[in-house]
Amino acid sequence: MMNNKIAINGFFGRMGQAIYELSLKQNFDVTVGVDLKEKLSSNLDLKFSDNLSEHSGSFDVVIDFSLPEPCVKAVKECQKLNKPITIGTTGFSAEQKKILTDAGKEIPLLLAPNMSIGVNASLRSISELSKVLSGYDVSIEETHHKNKLDSPSGTALKIAEVIAEARHSSPSDINIKSFREEGEVGVHKTIFRSSDDEIIIYHNAYNRTIFAQGALDTSQWISKQPAGLYTYKDYMEDIS
Ligand SMILES: NC(=O)c1ccc[n+]([C@@H]2O[C@H](COP(=O)([O-])OP(=O)(O)OC[C@H]3O[C@@H](n4cnc5c(N)ncnc54)[C@H](O)[C@@H]3O)[C@@H](O)[C@H]2O)c1
Repeated sequence: MMNNKIAINGFFGRMGQAIYELSLKQNFDVTVGVDLKEKLSSNLDLKFSDNLSEHSGSFDVVIDFSLPEPCVKAVKECQKLNKPITIGTTGFSAEQKKILTDAGKEIPLLLAPNMSIGVNASLRSISELSKVLSGYDVSIEETHHKNKLDSPSGTALKIAEVIAEARHSSPSDINIKSFREEGEVGVHKTIFRSSDDEIIIYHNAYNRTIFAQGALDTSQWISKQPAGLYTYKDYMEDIS
């Protein structure tokens, strides 16, 4: 059993459920499920609440895949309880992001709009191509399921940030096209185009396991870090 006991905020959501199911196969110890009061009905042998602090003695670290507002609330509770948190939620406003950044001064906090090793490894190539192919036009296309609330996706915004950083430009100058299709877990295309050729970095998530894996792995890693604001890149560089 991995040592650090986990509370999942957004337990009954698509990602919360994917994380819980994977935790059972891999011996991660999920002990607390947090979600809206009306969703709290389960035969599982876990502690459930609509308030993270209620079972604060039963977990060491929080995984959040909920919505921006409940995530900010969870972060504030983690600050009070002095517990680490790994966050997959996307769609934060600038104001909400600032609250997360400030919380990173007090607790270990990992913020990853994409928790998959595949996308995060692709970001390295995207950064490299953005520099070497500085004369190429670059654009991003993303497709997700119809229930996704934020648009463009957090991952597309992250890709834009990586390109802008590599080219010393602004992420808002990069064209992002968003599509919503029934059942699509997540496709991202980063397209580098000249008048003579085209290079596409393409990532297609077949299911949510890749994100659940990242959430579980980073939950154990963040538990060992000092207070700070971390990204999946920090985790990836530390373990490789
Ligand atoms: N970082 C990644 O790799 C990654 C991957 C997939 C999804 N996401 C993001 O994760 C978030 C969740 O995605 P999802 O598809 O699981 O969404 P979802 O709508 O299926 O699940 C969200 C859950 O949060 C719960 N919730 C709402 N208010 C709450 C509150 N006050 N307290 C506790 N729980 C509350 C909802 O009831 C629901 O069960 C989204 O922001 C999505 O964009 C990130």
